[in-house]
Amino acid sequence: MNATATPHRFAPSAPLRGTIAVPGDKSISHRSLLLGACAVGETHITGLLEGEDVLATAAAMRAMGADVERLGDGEWRINGVGIGGLLQPESAIDCGNSGTSARLLMGLVASHGITTSLVGDASLSKRPMGRVIDPLSEMGAKFTASPGGRFPLMLEGAHPAVPITYRLPVASAQVKSAVLLAGLNTPGITTVIEPVPTRDHSERMLRGFGAKLDVGEEEGERIIRLTGQTDLQPRDLVVPGDPSSAAFFMVAATLVEGSDLTIRNVGMNPTRAGLVGVLRQMGANIEEVDAREVGGEPVADLRVRHAPLTGIEVDPSVAPSMIDEFPVLFVAAALAQGTTVTRGLEELRVKESDRLATMAAALETIGARVEENEDGLTIHGTGGEPLRGSADAQVETHLDHRIAMSMAVAGLASREGVEVDDTSPIATSFPNFMELLDGVTR
Ligand code: S3P
Repeated sequence: MNATATPHRFAPSAPLRGTIAVPGDKSISHRSLLLGACAVGETHITGLLEGEDVLATAAAMRAMGADVERLGDGEWRINGVGIGGLLQPESAIDCGNSGTSARLLMGLVASHGITTSLVGDASLSKRPMGRVIDPLSEMGAKFTASPGGRFPLMLEGAHPAVPITYRLPVASAQVKSAVLLAGLNTPGITTVIEPVPTRDHSERMLRGFGAKLDVGEEEGERIIRLTGQTDLQPRDLVVPGDPSSAAFFMVAATLVEGSDLTIRNVGMNPTRAGLVGVLRQMGANIEEVDAREVGGEPVADLRVRHAPLTGIEVDPSVAPSMIDEFPVLFVAAALAQGTTVTRGLEELRVKESDRLATMAAALETIGARVEENEDGLTIHGTGGEPLRGSADAQVETHLDHRIAMSMAVAGLASREGVEVDDTSPIATSFPNFMELLDGVTR
């Protein structure tokens, strides 16, 4: 638990009803700031997520010379420095809890003549950075990392950097994006090969900013080629709602009897929307209304009504398209009829917490039947009966926002409620989560 932990008890809930809009997509918000800062001229953003993670990226871009200004709620303006124009920051770059800030900023800095240290909180300091240190070192950057290739670390950028061809050894959009961002200020063509497709916001947005980027497919692998040192054009960006934030409300409305909730403006990019398909396979009633495009991304309003769920074997190939949604899927599985089996989820062990171990322990604390395996959880559901909850025990969230929100959802569908040890990390990705939850369960 951290020093300023904020415990909270999530009580059994009334049905979730009404209409909400979740905040802007976290991945797209980070990228809007990073690319806006590299364009020449003024980028205007609406719907930016103002969570701590994204604010860490904004502060970093400011520290490196971009003029970043908040105009109003979610409305931001950036005057970029142009490709190659980032300046030496005066102090360490603090990425807080944010793996995305850490990896993407490392990529961007790696091809500038900048020497800086990068630091983060206790959770981020446990996470592996070798996955970005390896390709960025091949491009010429130098790193002095803490033991195990972790934060805090020193980074000396390469100028000029060397273009590489890099086949991703892990399915990670952060690693892909780090290499592509480094490629922006690298002469020649930087190539990333993706054997397993991951979220493609970087590719969509780089194109939107006018980068020279080709995406092809060879022998079932995605090949992304970026020509470096081409100017980026400023943009007017609209950030769609975050499907990873909508996920908590989708599952809550599915689990709590009598619920009928509409979540407006949810990003439905196929590289992100895996949870919707998996929940439907389990029997969920999720209707897509008014499917449209916002800011180059597919978006829809989702109407979610309570429905009984049945356990399934989740196809491991969908994992990258719902990688952040497994904690809340585990909660859904804990109330389904029968057994849900998940596999191929080793990556969950290196998120803000070890999400397999943390969720197994949290669900057991509140009376669910769970088996933890090396690469997934097997969960035996209650068949719709509320979970027992935790009258006198706290569940531990290990500085992980998505564990806190998942266990909040579990509390709504429990008999005794669930006491979460620390809700403060929720502010990293979903600052108005509690307010929205209060509003729809009243
Ligand atoms: C993200 C990629 C994913 C995801 C994270 C955001 C991104 O991480 O878990 O929340 O914005 O690129 P990995 O690349 O480690 O899978």
